Amino acid sequence: MSEDVAFLGLGVMGGPMAGHLAAAGHRVTVYNRTATKAQAWLSRCGGAAAATPAEAARSARFVFSCVGGDDDLRAVTVGQDGAFPAMQPGAVFVDHTTTSAEVAREVAEQARSNGLGFLDAPIAGGEPGALQGALSIMVGGDAGAFEQAAPLLKVYGRSVLHMGPVGTGQLTKMVNQICATGIIASLAEGLSFAERAGLDGDKVIELISNGSAASWQVGNRAKPMLQRDFSAGGAVGLLHKDLGICLEEAARTGTSLPVVELVRSYYETFVDRGEGKLDAACLIDLFNGKSGGAG
Ligand SMILES: NC(=O)c1ccc[n+]([C@@H]2O[C@H](COP(=O)([O-])OP(=O)(O)OC[C@H]3O[C@@H](n4cnc5c(N)ncnc54)[C@H](OP(=O)(O)O)[C@@H]3O)[C@@H](O)[C@H]2O)c1
Repeated sequence: MSEDVAFLGLGVMGGPMAGHLAAAGHRVTVYNRTATKAQAWLSRCGGAAAATPAEAARSARFVFSCVGGDDDLRAVTVGQDGAFPAMQPGAVFVDHTTTSAEVAREVAEQARSNGLGFLDAPIAGGEPGALQGALSIMVGGDAGAFEQAAPLLKVYGRSVLHMGPVGTGQLTKMVNQICATGIIASLAEGLSFAERAGLDGDKVIELISNGSAASWQVGNRAKPMLQRDFSAGGAVGLLHKDLGICLEEAARTGTSLPVVELVRSYYETFVDRGEGKLDAACLIDLFNGKSGGAG
Protein backbone atom coordinates (compact mmCIF):
# COMPACT_ATOMS: atom_id res chain seq x y z
CA MET A 1 0.00 0.00 0.00
CA SER A 2 1.31 3.41 -0.92
CA GLU A 3 1.82 5.65 2.15
CA ASP A 4 2.36 9.36 2.77
CA VAL A 5 5.76 9.54 4.43
CA ALA A 6 8.30 12.20 5.35
CA PHE A 7 12.07 11.78 5.53
CA LEU A 8 14.20 14.21 7.53
CA GLY A 9 17.95 14.21 6.78
CA LEU A 10 19.24 13.29 3.33
CA GLY A 11 22.88 12.56 4.16
CA VAL A 12 25.03 9.58 3.19
CA MET A 13 22.48 7.21 4.73
CA GLY A 14 19.17 9.09 4.65
CA GLY A 15 19.37 10.11 0.98
CA PRO A 16 19.44 6.55 -0.40
CA MET A 17 16.92 5.29 2.19
CA ALA A 18 14.43 7.98 1.23
CA GLY A 19 15.15 7.14 -2.42
CA HIS A 20 14.18 3.49 -1.86
CA LEU A 21 10.86 4.58 -0.33
CA ALA A 22 10.12 6.77 -3.36
CA ALA A 23 11.15 3.98 -5.76
CA ALA A 24 8.78 1.62 -3.93
CA GLY A 25 5.86 3.96 -4.77
CA HIS A 26 5.42 5.83 -1.48
CA ARG A 27 4.66 9.55 -1.55
CA VAL A 28 7.78 11.01 0.05
CA THR A 29 8.19 14.56 1.32
CA VAL A 30 11.77 15.31 2.29
CA TYR A 31 13.39 17.90 4.52
CA ASN A 32 17.09 18.62 4.62
CA ARG A 33 18.67 21.43 6.65
CA THR A 34 20.85 22.36 3.67
CA ALA A 35 18.14 22.93 1.06
CA THR A 36 20.39 22.31 -1.97
CA LYS A 37 20.71 18.65 -0.91
CA ALA A 38 16.92 18.30 -0.89
CA GLN A 39 16.75 19.82 -4.38
CA ALA A 40 19.41 17.38 -5.66
CA TRP A 41 17.45 14.49 -4.11
CA LEU A 42 14.20 15.69 -5.79
CA SER A 43 15.87 15.79 -9.19
CA ARG A 44 16.95 12.15 -8.75
CA CYS A 45 13.92 10.69 -6.97
CA GLY A 46 10.87 12.94 -7.50
CA GLY A 47 8.59 13.57 -4.51
CA ALA A 48 8.30 16.89 -2.70
CA ALA A 49 10.50 19.00 -0.43
CA ALA A 50 9.52 21.01 2.65
CA ALA A 51 11.29 23.92 4.30
CA THR A 52 10.96 22.60 7.87
CA PRO A 53 10.53 19.23 9.62
CA ALA A 54 7.05 20.37 10.71
CA GLU A 55 5.98 21.12 7.16
CA ALA A 56 7.35 17.80 5.89
CA ALA A 57 5.64 15.82 8.65
CA ARG A 58 2.20 17.46 8.61
CA SER A 59 0.29 14.91 6.55
CA ALA A 60 2.62 11.92 6.86
CA ARG A 61 1.53 8.67 8.50
CA PHE A 62 5.21 7.77 9.02
CA VAL A 63 8.05 10.24 9.57
CA PHE A 64 11.62 8.98 9.30
CA SER A 65 14.76 10.77 10.44
CA CYS A 66 18.45 10.12 9.94
CA VAL A 67 20.39 13.07 11.33
CA GLY A 68 23.60 13.40 13.38
CA GLY A 69 23.26 12.69 17.10
CA ASP A 70 21.23 13.36 20.24
CA ASP A 71 20.82 17.13 19.89
CA ASP A 72 19.99 16.85 16.20
CA LEU A 73 17.23 14.35 16.95
CA ARG A 74 15.82 16.76 19.55
CA ALA A 75 16.03 19.60 16.99
CA VAL A 76 13.99 17.84 14.28
CA THR A 77 11.37 16.46 16.68
CA VAL A 78 10.72 18.98 19.46
CA GLY A 79 12.92 21.93 18.45
CA GLN A 80 11.75 25.02 16.59
CA ASP A 81 9.61 23.89 13.63
CA GLY A 82 10.15 20.30 14.78
CA ALA A 83 7.95 17.48 13.52
CA PHE A 84 6.09 16.37 16.66
CA PRO A 85 3.57 19.21 17.14
CA ALA A 86 2.69 19.08 13.43
CA MET A 87 2.12 15.32 13.16
CA GLN A 88 -1.34 13.74 13.03
CA PRO A 89 -2.39 11.79 16.16
CA GLY A 90 -1.53 8.12 15.70
CA ALA A 91 1.29 8.79 13.23
CA VAL A 92 4.60 7.04 13.87
CA PHE A 93 8.05 8.67 14.04
CA VAL A 94 10.92 6.31 13.17
CA ASP A 95 14.41 7.53 14.05
CA HIS A 96 17.37 5.98 12.20
CA THR A 97 19.98 8.27 13.79
CA THR A 98 22.62 6.64 16.02
CA THR A 99 21.91 8.26 19.41
CA SER A 100 22.06 7.42 23.08
CA ALA A 101 19.35 5.12 24.45
CA GLU A 102 18.55 7.89 26.93
CA VAL A 103 17.58 10.42 24.28
CA ALA A 104 15.48 7.77 22.53
CA ARG A 105 13.51 7.28 25.78
CA GLU A 106 13.23 11.05 26.31
CA VAL A 107 11.96 11.74 22.80
CA ALA A 108 9.63 8.71 22.90
CA GLU A 109 8.01 10.20 26.00
CA GLN A 110 7.48 13.50 24.15
CA ALA A 111 5.98 11.55 21.24
CA ARG A 112 3.64 9.72 23.60
CA SER A 113 2.40 12.98 25.09
CA ASN A 114 1.69 14.22 21.53
CA GLY A 115 -0.34 11.05 20.79
CA LEU A 116 2.36 9.69 18.45
CA GLY A 117 4.25 6.42 18.14
CA PHE A 118 8.06 6.44 18.31
CA LEU A 119 10.59 3.81 17.28
CA ASP A 120 14.36 4.02 17.77
CA ALA A 121 15.60 2.21 14.68
CA PRO A 122 19.32 2.69 14.13
CA ILE A 123 20.90 1.11 11.08
CA ALA A 124 24.04 -0.85 10.20
CA GLY A 125 25.53 -1.71 6.83
CA GLY A 126 27.17 1.60 5.96
CA GLU A 127 26.78 3.53 2.73
CA PRO A 128 26.83 0.33 0.60
CA GLY A 129 23.99 -1.11 2.69
CA ALA A 130 21.96 2.09 2.26
CA LEU A 131 22.59 2.23 -1.49
CA GLN A 132 21.68 -1.43 -1.96
CA GLY A 133 18.68 -1.30 0.41
CA ALA A 134 20.27 -4.04 2.48
CA LEU A 135 20.58 -2.52 5.95
CA SER A 136 20.30 -4.16 9.34
CA ILE A 137 17.66 -2.26 11.31
CA MET A 138 17.46 -2.77 15.06
CA VAL A 139 14.21 -1.45 16.45
CA GLY A 140 13.08 -0.47 19.93
CA GLY A 141 9.61 0.72 20.92
CA ASP A 142 5.99 -0.31 21.00
CA ALA A 143 5.33 -3.63 19.22
CA GLY A 144 2.19 -2.26 17.52
CA ALA A 145 4.09 0.69 16.05
CA PHE A 146 6.79 -1.74 14.88
CA GLU A 147 4.23 -3.89 13.08
CA GLN A 148 2.87 -0.82 11.29
CA ALA A 149 6.29 0.44 10.23
CA ALA A 150 7.92 -2.90 9.41
CA PRO A 151 6.72 -3.13 5.77
CA LEU A 152 8.31 0.26 5.08
CA LEU A 153 11.53 -0.62 6.93
CA LYS A 154 11.81 -3.77 4.81
CA VAL A 155 11.99 -1.56 1.71
CA TYR A 156 15.63 -0.78 2.63
CA GLY A 157 16.31 -3.30 5.40
CA ARG A 158 17.53 -6.83 4.82
CA SER A 159 17.38 -7.71 8.51
CA VAL A 160 14.68 -5.87 10.48
CA LEU A 161 14.10 -6.98 14.06
CA HIS A 162 12.09 -5.69 16.99
CA MET A 163 14.44 -5.80 20.00
CA GLY A 164 12.07 -4.72 22.80
CA PRO A 165 11.07 -1.45 24.49
CA VAL A 166 12.28 1.95 23.34
CA GLY A 167 16.06 2.28 23.67
CA THR A 168 16.81 -1.35 22.86
CA GLY A 169 17.40 -0.49 19.19
CA GLN A 170 20.12 1.95 20.23
CA LEU A 171 21.60 -0.51 22.74
CA THR A 172 21.86 -3.10 19.94
CA LYS A 173 23.51 -0.56 17.65
CA MET A 174 26.08 0.05 20.41
CA VAL A 175 26.96 -3.65 20.27
CA ASN A 176 27.42 -3.30 16.50
CA GLN A 177 29.70 -0.28 16.91
CA ILE A 178 31.75 -1.92 19.67
CA CYS A 179 32.39 -4.90 17.37
CA ALA A 180 32.79 -3.05 14.06
CA THR A 181 35.17 -0.34 15.21
CA GLY A 182 37.56 -2.83 16.81
CA ILE A 183 37.68 -4.72 13.50
CA ILE A 184 38.44 -1.53 11.55
CA ALA A 185 41.40 -0.83 13.84
CA SER A 186 42.70 -4.41 13.52
CA LEU A 187 42.39 -4.22 9.74
CA ALA A 188 44.35 -0.96 9.64
CA GLU A 189 47.09 -2.55 11.78
CA GLY A 190 47.20 -5.72 9.66
CA LEU A 191 47.40 -3.90 6.33
CA SER A 192 49.99 -1.49 7.64
CA PHE A 193 52.01 -4.51 8.76
CA ALA A 194 51.60 -6.05 5.29
CA GLU A 195 52.87 -2.88 3.59
CA ARG A 196 55.92 -2.68 5.82
CA ALA A 197 56.63 -6.36 5.15
CA GLY A 198 56.57 -5.67 1.39
CA LEU A 199 53.67 -8.05 0.70
CA ASP A 200 51.39 -7.77 -2.34
CA GLY A 201 48.35 -5.99 -0.89
CA ASP A 202 45.81 -7.29 -3.41
CA LYS A 203 46.87 -10.88 -2.75
CA VAL A 204 46.76 -10.32 1.00
CA ILE A 205 43.19 -8.99 0.68
CA GLU A 206 42.09 -11.91 -1.48
CA LEU A 207 43.50 -14.43 0.97
CA ILE A 208 42.22 -12.85 4.18
CA SER A 209 38.81 -12.29 2.55
CA ASN A 210 38.47 -16.04 2.17
CA GLY A 211 39.94 -17.06 5.50
CA SER A 212 39.07 -16.68 9.17
CA ALA A 213 39.63 -12.89 9.10
CA ALA A 214 36.85 -12.33 6.53
CA SER A 215 34.37 -9.59 7.45
CA TRP A 216 32.28 -6.73 6.07
CA GLN A 217 35.15 -4.42 6.95
CA VAL A 218 37.68 -6.45 4.93
CA GLY A 219 35.23 -6.55 2.02
CA ASN A 220 34.50 -2.82 2.06
CA ARG A 221 37.46 -1.03 3.67
CA ALA A 222 40.62 -3.05 2.92
CA LYS A 223 41.12 -1.82 -0.67
CA PRO A 224 40.35 1.84 0.15
CA MET A 225 42.85 1.60 3.04
CA LEU A 226 45.64 0.39 0.73
CA GLN A 227 44.70 2.97 -1.92
CA ARG A 228 44.51 5.74 0.72
CA ASP A 229 40.99 6.51 -0.56
CA PHE A 230 39.13 7.95 2.40
CA SER A 231 36.18 9.35 0.42
CA ALA A 232 33.53 6.75 1.38
CA GLY A 233 30.72 7.74 3.72
CA GLY A 234 31.61 6.16 7.09
CA ALA A 235 32.80 9.37 8.73
CA VAL A 236 35.34 8.91 11.49
CA GLY A 237 33.72 11.81 13.36
CA LEU A 238 30.39 9.95 13.53
CA LEU A 239 32.13 6.81 14.79
CA HIS A 240 33.90 8.91 17.43
CA LYS A 241 30.45 10.15 18.52
CA ASP A 242 29.12 6.56 18.58
CA LEU A 243 31.94 5.24 20.76
CA GLY A 244 31.40 8.11 23.20
CA ILE A 245 27.79 6.95 23.52
CA CYS A 246 28.97 3.35 24.07
CA LEU A 247 31.39 4.43 26.82
CA GLU A 248 28.71 6.46 28.61
CA GLU A 249 26.28 3.53 28.50
CA ALA A 250 29.02 1.14 29.67
CA ALA A 251 29.81 3.43 32.61
CA ARG A 252 26.15 3.21 33.64
CA THR A 253 26.15 -0.60 33.59
CA GLY A 254 29.68 -1.08 34.94
CA THR A 255 30.93 -2.74 31.73
CA SER A 256 34.59 -2.51 30.80
CA LEU A 257 35.30 -1.51 27.16
CA PRO A 258 39.10 -1.19 26.96
CA VAL A 259 39.30 -1.73 23.17
CA VAL A 260 36.62 0.91 22.58
CA GLU A 261 38.58 3.39 24.72
CA LEU A 262 41.74 2.76 22.69
CA VAL A 263 40.03 2.91 19.30
CA ARG A 264 38.15 6.08 20.24
CA SER A 265 41.48 7.73 21.03
CA TYR A 266 42.57 6.88 17.46
CA TYR A 267 39.44 8.51 16.03
CA GLU A 268 40.00 11.52 18.25
CA THR A 269 43.29 12.21 16.46
CA PHE A 270 41.37 12.82 13.23
CA VAL A 271 38.57 14.79 14.89
CA ASP A 272 41.16 17.03 16.60
CA ARG A 273 42.84 17.62 13.23
CA GLY A 274 39.50 18.71 11.71
CA GLU A 275 39.39 15.54 9.60
CA GLY A 276 36.22 14.04 11.09
CA LYS A 277 34.57 13.69 7.68
CA LEU A 278 37.17 11.20 6.39
CA ASP A 279 36.00 7.61 6.06
CA ALA A 280 37.24 5.36 8.86
CA ALA A 281 39.62 3.69 6.36
CA CYS A 282 41.87 6.63 7.31
CA LEU A 283 42.90 4.71 10.42
CA ILE A 284 45.66 3.12 8.34
CA ASP A 285 47.43 6.48 8.37
CA LEU A 286 47.86 6.17 12.14
CA PHE A 287 50.05 3.14 11.76
CA ASN A 288 52.41 4.31 9.03
CA GLY A 289 53.98 7.10 11.02
CA LYS A 290 51.92 9.94 9.45
CA SER A 291 50.30 11.02 12.70
CA GLY A 292 53.15 10.15 15.01
CA GLY A 293 50.40 8.98 17.39
CA ALA A 294 50.01 5.24 17.29
CA GLY A 295 52.56 4.23 14.67
N1 LIG B 1 27.62 6.82 7.33
C1 LIG B 1 27.50 5.60 7.81
O1 LIG B 1 28.20 4.66 7.38
C2 LIG B 1 26.50 5.31 8.90
C3 LIG B 1 26.13 3.98 9.13
C4 LIG B 1 25.18 3.70 10.10
C5 LIG B 1 24.64 4.72 10.87
N2 LIG B 1 25.02 6.01 10.64
C6 LIG B 1 24.39 7.05 11.47
O2 LIG B 1 23.33 7.61 10.70
C7 LIG B 1 23.23 9.02 10.99
C8 LIG B 1 23.44 9.81 9.70
O3 LIG B 1 24.72 9.50 9.19
P1 LIG B 1 25.18 10.00 7.73
O4 LIG B 1 26.44 9.28 7.44
O5 LIG B 1 24.04 9.97 6.79
O6 LIG B 1 25.53 11.51 8.10
P2 LIG B 1 25.62 12.77 7.13
O7 LIG B 1 25.93 12.38 5.74
O8 LIG B 1 26.52 13.75 7.83
O9 LIG B 1 24.12 13.33 7.13
C9 LIG B 1 23.55 13.87 8.29
C10 LIG B 1 22.22 14.48 7.93
O10 LIG B 1 21.62 15.01 9.10
C11 LIG B 1 21.30 16.39 8.90
N3 LIG B 1 21.39 17.09 10.18
C12 LIG B 1 22.40 17.00 11.09
N4 LIG B 1 22.13 17.77 12.15
C13 LIG B 1 20.92 18.34 11.92
C14 LIG B 1 20.09 19.24 12.65
N5 LIG B 1 20.46 19.70 13.86
N6 LIG B 1 18.94 19.62 12.10
C15 LIG B 1 18.55 19.16 10.88
N7 LIG B 1 19.28 18.31 10.14
C16 LIG B 1 20.45 17.92 10.65
C17 LIG B 1 22.30 16.85 7.88
O11 LIG B 1 21.87 18.03 7.24
P3 LIG B 1 22.89 18.94 6.36
O12 LIG B 1 22.89 18.34 5.01
O13 LIG B 1 22.34 20.30 6.41
O14 LIG B 1 24.25 18.84 7.05
C18 LIG B 1 22.34 15.65 6.95
O15 LIG B 1 21.20 15.62 6.12
C19 LIG B 1 24.25 9.31 12.08
O16 LIG B 1 23.65 9.21 13.33
C20 LIG B 1 25.28 8.20 11.89
O17 LIG B 1 25.99 7.93 13.09
C21 LIG B 1 25.93 6.33 9.66
